[in-house]
Amino acid sequence: MAILEIRIFPDPVLRSTCPAVETFDEDLHRLVDDMVETMYAAPGVGLAAPQVGVEKRLAVVDVSVSKEPERLLVLINPEIVESSGREVDFEGCLSIPQLSEKIARPTHVRVRAQDLDGVPFELEAEEFEARAICHELDHLDGVLFIDHLKGLRRDRIRRKLRKLELV
Ligand code: NI
Repeated sequence: MAILEIRIFPDPVLRSTCPAVETFDEDLHRLVDDMVETMYAAPGVGLAAPQVGVEKRLAVVDVSVSKEPERLLVLINPEIVESSGREVDFEGCLSIPQLSEKIARPTHVRVRAQDLDGVPFELEAEEFEARAICHELDHLDGVLFIDHLKGLRRDRIRRKLRKLELV
């Protein structure tokens, strides 16, 4: 296992629309192991493949940050098939360090994905876990949490990013 380099905004790979995973092989297993290790080392509650420079529809989420092994979700080719509720809460991203903003997300999601062997499954998540899943799935389409901000809040975050010399 290895800790991978986390790509930082405005790295263009963070704006990629990632193609589906089609090959479920040893390389994929290794990539997932490395992404999980990288997420825990950061530490973070989620990591999407483009954040480590890999353009694939793949994300890992663990809202317990390794404290409860059964909470680890490996989501390959995931899609949200149902969502409901709405909650505004603080959110951050390993690729945009030092920033957190209040973002609206659904409080409940049903997700369809494939496991490491390509077998389809569905899961349901609530509250913070639902938020983390929505955030990571956005990454697979090149969407960042700051893109959900509008108007003055969006202008303010752009100024902040410039101050951090990220843009
Ligand atoms: Ni993120």
